[in-house]
Amino acid sequence: MKLYVYPNDNLASLKAYEIVKKALLNKKNSLLGLATGSTPLKLYDLMIKDYKKGIISYKEVKTYNVDEYIGLEESHDQSYRQFMNCNLFNHIDINIKNIYFPKGVGNINKNIKEYDKTLESLGAADIQILGIGSNGHIAFNEPGTSFDLKTHVTNLSPSTIKDNSRFFLRRDQVPTSAITMGIKSILKAKKIILLAFGENKSNAIKKLLEEEVTEDFPASALKDHPDVIIICDSDAAKKIKYN
Ligand code: PGA
Repeated sequence: MKLYVYPNDNLASLKAYEIVKKALLNKKNSLLGLATGSTPLKLYDLMIKDYKKGIISYKEVKTYNVDEYIGLEESHDQSYRQFMNCNLFNHIDINIKNIYFPKGVGNINKNIKEYDKTLESLGAADIQILGIGSNGHIAFNEPGTSFDLKTHVTNLSPSTIKDNSRFFLRRDQVPTSAITMGIKSILKAKKIILLAFGENKSNAIKKLLEEEVTEDFPASALKDHPDVIIICDSDAAKKIKYN
């Protein structure tokens, strides 16, 4: 794993964007694995800015997302699909048919099977963008999840529900389960960029860098991947030693 630490999330997001931009300039039909949450927002802003300047086109790009809440329709304002529409897809020239997303409503078992089939047929992502939960989750693989699972339903941990509650008016509106890609599928990406900003992530980053691989700390699975880039701001890196 390579680690980059920047004084703030603007510079850290710019580093992530430079890697994404290089990949997109090299390969117009790149496949990007995307994540939601507050962490990648500045990266998505940079992607939109360069698209608007005519520097990058997403016409041939395909994307898949790693997770979606169970019980929220695509059109719900807090669904992850809406999040991606509002924060990226609506502002670039991506073909809607090239956007792949797990479905959190309807026949969930069927949705799981279909998403695994979709991911299988898409092949390995050129770049997978990830955030990290304060408890070390990646996508919604919560602590204790087998690294061998593909797409599955997960009950969100109390700390994740608490972290996510800032986006909802009331705690009882926060979904308690999600459909998520498994770690096995996430690790198929050719390159993984994990972003971590803010002091709230400092314990998770310390664990990721200093502790053993264990299913009790899902992000540790990344240690077994050959091309992982961790990009932090100085708050997220405050509990580790770096140059
Ligand atoms: P955040 O979430 O970007 O909103 O901090 C990251 C995550 O839970 O994976």
